[in-house]
Amino acid sequence: MSKTILITGGAGFIGSHVVRLFVNKYPDYTIVNLDKLTYAGNLENLRDIENSENYIFEKGDIVDEGYIKSLFTKYAFDGVIHLAAESHVDRSITNPMEFIMTNVVGTVNLLNAAKNAWKGNEEGKLFYHVSTDEVYGSLGDTGLFLETTPYDPQSPYSSSKASSDHFVRAYGNTYGMPFVISNCSNNYGPNQFPEKLLPLFINNIRNGKALPVYGDGKFTRDWLYVVDHAIAIDKIYHDGKNGETYNIGGFNEWTNIDLIKVLCKQMDIALGNEAGTAEGLITYVKDRPGHDKRYAIDANKLKNEMGWEPSLQFEEGLAKTIAWYLANEEWMDNITSGDYQNYYKEQYS
Ligand code: NAD
Ligand code: TYD
Repeated sequence: MSKTILITGGAGFIGSHVVRLFVNKYPDYTIVNLDKLTYAGNLENLRDIENSENYIFEKGDIVDEGYIKSLFTKYAFDGVIHLAAESHVDRSITNPMEFIMTNVVGTVNLLNAAKNAWKGNEEGKLFYHVSTDEVYGSLGDTGLFLETTPYDPQSPYSSSKASSDHFVRAYGNTYGMPFVISNCSNNYGPNQFPEKLLPLFINNIRNGKALPVYGDGKFTRDWLYVVDHAIAIDKIYHDGKNGETYNIGGFNEWTNIDLIKVLCKQMDIALGNEAGTAEGLITYVKDRPGHDKRYAIDANKLKNEMGWEPSLQFEEGLAKTIAWYLANEEWMDNITSGDYQNYYKEQYS
């Protein structure tokens, strides 16, 4: 059945993988990618599908209420997959207001536009809100986040995402908006902006630069290959139940320092360097303020209800990721040449 789906943030890291999957898998769907092209948005991520007949790019800002309204008039959307966001915790510490505007106000603008467009005709419509496990807060040494875990966000980023999740549920409850929400753990893979741990460290190793490990490095995250996240989003979009939340995770917990050491070993091999070269770049730096100790996610609801599981073992996913960055050095050099240098200086000097 043909559908017109709005994907927001489709020029970003995860969004570009979701757009690619939908454009290639559903030739009968029209996929409209709305993206502001902030520092994190990059149309290079979508070169391979940009000329597909079922793909349209719209440059715009979800914070612009009038523009969002006009987009819903221009296209009769059957669904929204909402990924556009400010996504980096460190930037949220420096500039929380940007996160409130895009993540909260932008989401409510989209909800209002969808509510008005779908009023009385909600059957078959869906607002899919893509969120993070960080809304649940920080765990001690044990335990896992379940879909029922109370929200306890600790950073400006996670607070803005938690707020947007609440608004989506409120629109479901108050106005009958058909919705699903998924909360995913840390993603890694091709096309991730080098402010996040793995691409930043891959780029630094490639350039022989220090690897800035925050605090004692004993912070734990669950890691999922980005294509597996996109596959989960596809399943949930089509088979998820209205009003439900699904946790997505890799069943793959690492302390930062252990993960960095595996990365260093694989990078030495990939670059043909002597063993131990990359590890020699590890430098412990001042901790992130309010740094969440541990995230760990129970993704069994998704596994049991929809048969979704991560398709890759971590070492395999990491090797593919490293191979991609080394084969796409121009992609990295283009985005690290301009403003990135200022960001890097402010964040790490
Ligand atoms: P990203 O920062 O790589 O991409 C965000 C995209 O949104 C960019 O293309 C940017 O241009 C666009 N954007 C930002 N502000 C906008 C605005 N006002 N209007 C329109 N477009 C705008 O982010 P990502 O890592 O791909 O994350 C995508 C989504 O997934 C986010 O909602 C994030 O909270 C969520 N998420 C991310 C992770 C992760 O590990 N990266 C994990 C779980 C959930
Ligand atoms: P990040 O990729 O920013 O994701 P998040 O904070 O959303 O989990 O960071 C992952 C982990 O790596 C987190 O514990 C912070 C740590 N980290 C560093 O030690 N050094 C760095 O330069 C960065 C960017 C992150």
